[in-house]
Amino acid sequence: MGTKTTFESAVIGGIEVKNRIVRSATFEAAGKKGNVGDHMLEMHTNLAEGDVGLIITGYVGFSKSDNHAHNAVVLSADSSMENLKALTDSVHKNGSKIIPQINHTGSQLFAAPTGPVYGPSDIADHISRIKSTPFTIDQIKDVVVEFGDAALIAKNAGFDGIQIHAAHGYLLSKFLSPAFNKRTDEYGGSPVNRARFIVEILKEVKARCGADFPVWIKMNGSDFHPTDEGLLIDDALVVAKELAENGIDAIEISGGTFTGTYSPCRPKKHEAYHLDFATKLIEEVSVPVVLVGGFRSIDAIEKIISETKVEAVSMSRPLIREPGLVKRWKDGDRENAACMACNGCFNPAGTQCIFELGEEEKAVQKEIMKFMNSMTKE
Ligand SMILES: Cc1cc2nc3c(=O)[nH]c(=O)nc-3n(C[C@H](O)[C@H](O)[C@H](O)COP(=O)(O)O)c2cc1C
Repeated sequence: MGTKTTFESAVIGGIEVKNRIVRSATFEAAGKKGNVGDHMLEMHTNLAEGDVGLIITGYVGFSKSDNHAHNAVVLSADSSMENLKALTDSVHKNGSKIIPQINHTGSQLFAAPTGPVYGPSDIADHISRIKSTPFTIDQIKDVVVEFGDAALIAKNAGFDGIQIHAAHGYLLSKFLSPAFNKRTDEYGGSPVNRARFIVEILKEVKARCGADFPVWIKMNGSDFHPTDEGLLIDDALVVAKELAENGIDAIEISGGTFTGTYSPCRPKKHEAYHLDFATKLIEEVSVPVVLVGGFRSIDAIEKIISETKVEAVSMSRPLIREPGLVKRWKDGDRENAACMACNGCFNPAGTQCIFELGEEEKAVQKEIMKFMNSMTKE
């Protein structure tokens, strides 16, 4: 301890980065027919020019069994390699690294589905209110293979690894949650069983892309389910150990769902609100830990990097408002991030800070902001 600094180059979870600040996955709502749209390319180019060490893309789809949002990027046989390479090249040109966050949305849908909605069990999602059809074991195996296909596409397109999205209430998060996973087969019950789907995905990606291809995961320390029936920290630690034993390269620790007691994107200023989970993980699991949630000051980031074993911190909303924030701090302007954590950045027409908009567009985005902030206590 005490030997790490924020703006040094380092190898974290198998990825060589120029500093320890990561852009946490942030859905850009800027996919065009499954490919990377112009707004997304521009966002990532700006982040790389702004010296973010590692960029994690907003979640991208991969499975035929999913109901992809109309504005999502999807890694599939239809993906344009040229389009994906334009993204990775643009980021690499500026010395940053980039990995896609691969996700199955399951029943946590913000728009009407176009096909069947799958999940671990037939429990209704709190946002879509849709009761998912439980996956058969054969379907789980198919999704594992599809995940491997997507990871290979990512590797061939020049991404520096991948991140599995197992946080915030989407499919894999629901498999981990006792509130949504009521299965009685080997994919339900104990925390090890609930983690089995993810472990199989991890093994498949390593088998297809090579043991040294970095595979990160974002997971919840707690779901903050309203009745506490969701994933809790003790089970999360068992899951993390299981992942560590099977070769996960880094764990980004988050918490909450959009309808839990706490949102993953708390709409008030709190610095480092998942630090307790990171501390517990570090005590019990020997895998690099990346901490997300509420970072707004370089002082807090530097303190955590130098005084704890957290390997990197990650941010989402501050980098929507100021893509050049990391460079600004590095160059000596240590003013706090301008982001107010209001959640006025969600917009299906393209994620952007509400403060960049004209009055008319602002009014629309304000309604979305109110909706996003209405479902959780904080
Ligand atoms: C507009 C928006 C989109 C997001 N999309 C994703 C996503 O695709 N995947 C994910 O894991 N988290 C997503 N998040 C959550 C963030 O990655 C992050 O965990 C959360 O905002 C807390 O970090 P912050 O305080 O730095 O914003 C999103 C957040 C926002 C505001």
